[in-house]
Amino acid sequence: MDQCDQTESKQEESSPDHVAIIMDGNGRWAEARGLPRSQGHRKGVEAVRNLVEHLADTGLKTLTLYAFSTENWQRPEVEVMFLMGLLKRYISQDLEKLHKQNVRIRVAGSPAGLPQDVSDLIAKAQETTKDNDAMTLQVAFNYGSWDEITTMVRTLVTKASAGQISAADVNAELVRAHLMTANVPDPDLIIRTSGEYRLSNFMLMQSAYAELVFQPVLWPDYTIHHYEEALHDFMQRDRRFGKAEELKAVHDNVEGLEAAR
Ligand code: FPP
Repeated sequence: MDQCDQTESKQEESSPDHVAIIMDGNGRWAEARGLPRSQGHRKGVEAVRNLVEHLADTGLKTLTLYAFSTENWQRPEVEVMFLMGLLKRYISQDLEKLHKQNVRIRVAGSPAGLPQDVSDLIAKAQETTKDNDAMTLQVAFNYGSWDEITTMVRTLVTKASAGQISAADVNAELVRAHLMTANVPDPDLIIRTSGEYRLSNFMLMQSAYAELVFQPVLWPDYTIHHYEEALHDFMQRDRRFGKAEELKAVHDNVEGLEAAR
């Protein structure tokens, strides 16, 4: 293997398979320009469109976008309805293109409270693209980790009460299979824009070993360049997943040297 191949394979090894993004700052972007918040969300969809188009054929396996949280229902009704409308418009306008790009669309979140036309469109997008395998675009919509975990516990208790499972059957695998992100591996990298440093009820269990990158840019201004900066940051991280192999190697080496004295 020449040096170039080695660099390439090292890069592949450390590239994330799953990137999740907390798209924040649409409101501030609009307010800074004296525009209604809706304009920030509208511009935010353009940023989504550009990023998805770019990433669909880069080899990234999964991109998750946090588009509407269970807490977002507390916003004024007009903004909530606007966000529902934006998702609908994005899916209906881009479904064909995404399907051609071999993108699988999946929505993680609760169906509770969603308007029927939004639910129907989500079902159509998921069904149309279910066999696509270039990239999975997972949209977290009406998603919140506390809701996800509560729903998972309720389902397991219901199954136990019906005699379908016993306490001994409950393990990490079963829990994972009952999360709203079932069958999608955990994110390797979680990016949050707008300079806020929190997860806001997003993938609290799935983020167990994710690398976190916080960027000051407001979401509507987000470009491939910002994404590449976040990737660069990710590549510098030493992911040990709770293991200490390298430390142990250093330790063994020191002991070996001392023994040889
Ligand atoms: C956070 O900005 C953003 C949201 C609550 C919605 C994100 C939605 C989109 C980018 C558009 C829809 C997405 C898809 C996939 C079609 P904020 O309003 O909380 O901003 P602020 O913190 O500055 O007020």
